[in-house]
Amino acid sequence: MDLILLGAPGAGKGTQGALLAERLGIPKIATGDILRDAVRRGTELGRQAKRYMDAGELVPDEVILGLVRDALREAERGAIFDGFPRNVSQAESLRSILEELGRRIDAVVSIDVPSEKIVRRMTGRRTDPETGLVYHLEHNPPPAEVRDRLVQRDDDREETVRHRLEVYRTTTEPLVAFYRESGVPLYAVDGDRAIDQVQGEILELLERNTPVGS
Ligand code: AP5
Repeated sequence: MDLILLGAPGAGKGTQGALLAERLGIPKIATGDILRDAVRRGTELGRQAKRYMDAGELVPDEVILGLVRDALREAERGAIFDGFPRNVSQAESLRSILEELGRRIDAVVSIDVPSEKIVRRMTGRRTDPETGLVYHLEHNPPPAEVRDRLVQRDDDREETVRHRLEVYRTTTEPLVAFYRESGVPLYAVDGDRAIDQVQGEILELLERNTPVGS
């Protein structure tokens, strides 16, 4: 199965993607995680990407497409795309890349959370650099033994979060219409609920395979 998770910054794509990857036994391809790893390792890609990420801007498409092609080599049975595609051009490229592999997008899940809740989520987010697991200081508290090593993302400052939300609205949100018009099964999920409730609904929708609005 090839599944896209759409949603604003902080909507819970990474959280739900990790749970789904484990449940469905397919890898998560998270372009943001790949870029952050390159920044941490100080590679040329990381140096190029950092200035876009810190400003809350999108990294150029050609860089991202190279990363996705590489990641797909390890994803022969399908993948969960988190944070990709981010604009119509990336969506068209993904369609072509999958076609070359004899595959297509099986479903798109849009996780919806009101903007005013997003900022609180992002400022309370902490990541474990050893496991990559994502926590929230209130909503998904980390176990005591990992608490001291948790880090906060550079782009989770309030001003940058607001800019990322604007970029999402203008550039990424049009993908909902793009996929609806393409006839790909599209599901809208209320992401403003407990993590396990959101996960339960996504799994139920995928099992029933009933496109939203049909
Ligand atoms: P990326 O890493 O993709 O960030 P994003 O899309 O802005 O999304 P986030 O990772 O911030 O949020 P999320 O939806 O995964 O939420 P999470 O599960 O962590 O991209 C970062 C940057 O990289 C971009 O700005 C851009 O520069 C670049 N980039 C990446 N991909 C690109 C691409 N394709 N093209 C161009 N540039 C690209 O949850 C957030 C918090 O809320 C956590 O603390 C979590 O514990 C908590 N939480 C989750 N679910 C719930 C819930 N149901 N209730 C309460 N709290 C919850």
